[in-house]
Amino acid sequence: MTAAQRKPSKTAKSKPGAATVSIKRFDGKTVKQPPAVAFLMQQHRDVEALFGAYQNTDSSNKKLKLSEKICLALAVHAKIEEELLYPEAREKIEESDLVDEAAVEHATAKDLIAQIETMQVGDPLYDAKVKVLGEYIAHHVEEEETELFPQVKRTDMDLADIGKRLKARAAQVTKELTSSGETATKTRVAADARLGAHI
Ligand SMILES: [Fe+2]
Ligand SMILES: [Fe+2]
Repeated sequence: MTAAQRKPSKTAKSKPGAATVSIKRFDGKTVKQPPAVAFLMQQHRDVEALFGAYQNTDSSNKKLKLSEKICLALAVHAKIEEELLYPEAREKIEESDLVDEAAVEHATAKDLIAQIETMQVGDPLYDAKVKVLGEYIAHHVEEEETELFPQVKRTDMDLADIGKRLKARAAQVTKELTSSGETATKTRVAADARLGAHI
C-alpha cells in the first residue's frame, strides 16, 4: 500500500462528537459539549429564562405571553428529544432506564402543560401550575445534564449529525405547532399530552 492509499478518505466521517460548543450548564458553569448536547442544553437555558421572567412579573398580559412561549418551547423540545435522541440513546447507553424515566417525565410535563393551556391567567392555581412545571422541568433538566447526556457522550452516537437534525426538526415542529395559530398549538400540545411520550 502506498502512502497516498493510506491517507484517510475525504468522505470518511470525522470522529462523532469531535467538534464541541461552549454552553452553560444548569448550574451556571460553562462547559464544552458536542453539538447535539449543546443544542438541547441551550433550549434548557432558554426555557429556564422564560420561567424566571414569569416569576418576575405581575402583569397578566406578560404572564400569558410567557406561559404560551414556555408551553411551545417545551412541546418542541420534548418532541425532538423523543424523536431524535431517546430511541438511539435507549439502545446504546449503559442504563437505558434513564431514557424510560425521562420519557415518563416528559409525559407528566405535557399533562401539566395541557392543564395550563386550558386555563386563563388569574385562575386559581394558574401561577402554581406554572411554578410547579418550572420546578419539575428543572429536575428533569438536571438529570439529563448530569446522567443521561454524559452517558450519551460515551456512545458512538454521531452527535454532530444529530445536532444538525435536532436543529432542523425543532424549526419544523415550531412551524407546525404555530402554523394555524394559537388555538391549533394548544390543541396539538394537549393531544400530544394525552398520547403521552413518543417512545
Ligand atoms: Fe427531556
Ligand atoms: Fe431536555
